[in-house]
Amino acid sequence: MRKILVTSALPYANGPIHLGHLLEYIQTDIWVRFQKSRGEQCTYVCADDAHGTAIMLRAEKEGITPEQLIERISTEHQQDFSDFLIAFDNYHSTHSPENKAFSTSIYEACLADGKIETRSITQAFDPEKELFLADRFVIGTCPKCKAEGQYGDNCEVCSATYNPMDLINPKSAISGATPIEKDSEHFFFKLSEFSEFLKDWTRSGALQPQIANKLAEWLDAGLQDWDISRDAPYFGFEIPNQPGKYFYVWLDAPIGYMASFKNLCDQRDDLNFDDYWKAGAETELYHFIGKDIVNFHALFWPAMLTCANYRTPTAVHAHGFVTVNGKKMSKSRGTFIKARTYLEHLDPEYLRYYFAAKLTSHVDDLDLNLEDFAQRVNSDLVGKVVNIASRCAGFITKRFDGKLAAECHETDLLAKFTNAGDEIAALYDAREFGKAVRKTMELADLANQYIDEKAPWVVAKEEGKDAELQQICSNGINMFRQLLTYLAPILPSMVEKSEAFLNVKLTWDARTELLLDHSINKFKPMMIRVDLKKIDVMMEASKEAVAAEMQLGKKPDSEKQAEQSNLPGGEAITPEIEFDDFAKVDLRVALIKNAEHVDGAKKLLKLTLDLGTEQKQVFSGIKSAYQPEDLVGKLTVMVANLKPRKMKFGMSEGMVLAAGPGGKEIWLLEPHEGAQPGMRIM
Ligand code: MSP
Ligand code: ZN
Repeated sequence: MRKILVTSALPYANGPIHLGHLLEYIQTDIWVRFQKSRGEQCTYVCADDAHGTAIMLRAEKEGITPEQLIERISTEHQQDFSDFLIAFDNYHSTHSPENKAFSTSIYEACLADGKIETRSITQAFDPEKELFLADRFVIGTCPKCKAEGQYGDNCEVCSATYNPMDLINPKSAISGATPIEKDSEHFFFKLSEFSEFLKDWTRSGALQPQIANKLAEWLDAGLQDWDISRDAPYFGFEIPNQPGKYFYVWLDAPIGYMASFKNLCDQRDDLNFDDYWKAGAETELYHFIGKDIVNFHALFWPAMLTCANYRTPTAVHAHGFVTVNGKKMSKSRGTFIKARTYLEHLDPEYLRYYFAAKLTSHVDDLDLNLEDFAQRVNSDLVGKVVNIASRCAGFITKRFDGKLAAECHETDLLAKFTNAGDEIAALYDAREFGKAVRKTMELADLANQYIDEKAPWVVAKEEGKDAELQQICSNGINMFRQLLTYLAPILPSMVEKSEAFLNVKLTWDARTELLLDHSINKFKPMMIRVDLKKIDVMMEASKEAVAAEMQLGKKPDSEKQAEQSNLPGGEAITPEIEFDDFAKVDLRVALIKNAEHVDGAKKLLKLTLDLGTEQKQVFSGIKSAYQPEDLVGKLTVMVANLKPRKMKFGMSEGMVLAAGPGGKEIWLLEPHEGAQPGMRIM
């Protein structure tokens, strides 16, 4: 029996799980379920990655503590994972006592070994927030091409790279203040001293060739030492004996793998921590990750582990990125689909199957083309696999009281199915899930051909052919059983339903024994067709979710990865404005004189607003909350000096302000004494 420990990357605790993440957790879960089904001792641990500036700021913005935020997000993450049938053996948090203990001891081991150095560095500093700013928290105009609104590390327009303070008119993304430069003492892990070790390790077979080649370029160019500290305020672990200095989130994040496993060992007698982590351990350790975080897992992590006298990973398995309908997942493009939004409309096993059918052992990106997705699931799973059972089960139930034939006269055909198992198993083990699926679907085609040829529905009408009918249908059921055994790692819930129908547990070993003279239960379809309409509804719902966030003042996520700043997707923060900015806004009470529908506009109403001295025409998106007739006679607050804007339907000469979460709940003022049209609001 192999002893295997498997991890997926720890998702950041500041945002929801989305379909991009799910590629990784589904890939890992399939691999783990496969190993378990083969009788290996395989343990799958994960955790939330709970530290860093982004989490601290988000909690602050929500008016809660970081602890409250990570608690809530952890619950949401775990619910999403479990609804996608991802079965962790343990799900922990990097903000845990175990993680603090390991982070401290690993740091101390590196320190004792002379591998930590302090150096003073100059950084952008937000003088209002009193906070050092990571590159991506500084926004300004690109010094090269003059594109506005660029991050402090590189320009999305001309790809120039620079330091944040090189930006023209740099601003803090947090407060809007102009950053200053400030020095501070930082702790560095001397990665450069591990160059020789890493040259060997990255070539030892632990990495995919594509990754090893990429790293070889970096290794040849020379490694930089790694900055592992951040200054207060920071949500993380304080560095021992260094008040005000914290471990950078990426130091304690991978240590979270150990912490989660330790937490599990403390609950289970059959797992021993040292068996899996001590230097020279003979167990296997695999990290499944996305290609964006390879440097952390294939350079820093093995170096730190070695330095602290732990084992290094057996292998790091990197996957590519999910695109949706050929486009990067992004909120502004409407291709950002949250796990929860998907679950509200579609069956999780559809996605598990589609990802599996397209996954390879390589690092290529994977496109979720929703039309192809529906077509693939419908034709393979419903049209081919479930169909086999549905074509045979009825006869067995009605004509043979649920009993399968006592003998099989098609041993060659059935042997093809049984024997394919070894090849399929090897494909799963090598993470060639797409090939495993293809092989299985070839068998499904064979089974359907057999049934087509034997035409049980014709035999059923012929006199004296009962035994033949029972034979044919029993063979069909036995073939179905083999197929489900092979698909089991991908489709756990379909397997459960099939086990109930077949009245047997589906295991890799048991498959060699055919079901003969065996009673089965009544057939109920294990999966229904993907409804294309539901895909459309899901896509619409995804767009609405983003629109709702934007209405609440959040900007759409940046398309870019923000790896160093721990700001995934670059969740933008609405900057504070100066009093002077606010004072420029002329807010007035206005009486709604008239309100009418606008031809061809779904959300807009045309309002005539009376300011006492003048009337203005404004197009306002509040149709979701009010019928025009309910608005007339109400008072609202308007921005009276907004520059008139030409819209598709005419000029809009101001903006109506209303409060509420959006949708149906937007509140206006009822007229009452005191508020008069034209009054200025201060
Ligand atoms: N917190 C770090 C990982 C720390 S591991 C010690 C992190 N978190 S993340 O939430 O941004 O990403 C979690 C995993 O999901 C990463 O492996 C990342 O590559 C993967 N993915 C995030 N978006 C993805 C796609 N669009 N497509 C495929 N995988 C993606 O990174
Ligand atoms: Zn530029």
